[in-house]
Amino acid sequence: MTPEQITKVQTTFDMVEPIADKAAELFYGRLFEIAPEVRPMFKSDMSEQGAKLMRMLGIAVRGLTKLETIVPAVQNLGVKHLEYGVKEEHFQPVAEALLWTLEQGLGDAWDEEAKVAWTEAYVLLSTTMIDAMKAAQAQAPAAPKPTGFWAKLKSFFSPSPA
Ligand code: HEM
Repeated sequence: MTPEQITKVQTTFDMVEPIADKAAELFYGRLFEIAPEVRPMFKSDMSEQGAKLMRMLGIAVRGLTKLETIVPAVQNLGVKHLEYGVKEEHFQPVAEALLWTLEQGLGDAWDEEAKVAWTEAYVLLSTTMIDAMKAAQAQAPAAPKPTGFWAKLKSFFSPSPA
C-alpha cells in the first residue's frame, strides 16, 4: 500500500469510529443478507462481536504504517477463524459487506481513492489471515492411530506388512 492509501484508510476509519456500533450492525445485517450460510457460525452476542470487529479493525488500520507490529495478531486471528469454521471463500462476502458499510457510513467521503485504498487494506489483512489458516492446517497433526480393541480388530482384518 502507498503511504497515501494508508492515510486514506486511517482518516476514513476515524470518520466511522464514532458510529462504530451502527457500522457493525449495518455490516452484519448486510453480511447475513448476502451470505446467509455464514450466520450459524456466529454464536456470540452480535453487539459484542461487532465491538470486537471494530476494535480489531482499528488496531489493524493504525498498524498499517508498522506492519510488523500487527502481523502476528492478524495471523492469530486467522487461526482462530479456522476454528470457527471460516473458509477462504467466506472472505469475499465479508469484503463486500465491509465496503458497502463504509460507503453507507462515509457518504461523499467514499470516493474512488477510498475504495481502492480499503480494497488494498482488506486484501492485505485477509491474505495474512488466510496464509496463517493454511499454514495451521498444513501443520495439523494427523488423526491419532487407533489403539486398544479397535487397533487389534483392525490389524486382525488387515494386518500391516511386516
Ligand atoms: C479482515 C477480516 C476479518 C477480521 C478483521 C475479523 C475480525 C474478527 C474478530 C476480532 C473476532 C473476535 C475474535 C475473538 O473473540 O477473539 C472475529 C470472530 C469471528 N469472525 Fe471474523 N474477522 C474477519 C473475517 C471473517 C470472515 C471472512 C468470517 C466468515 C464468515 C468471519 C467470521 C467470524 C466468526 C464466525 C467469529 C466468531 C463469532 C462468535 O464467536 O460468535 N470473520 N472476527
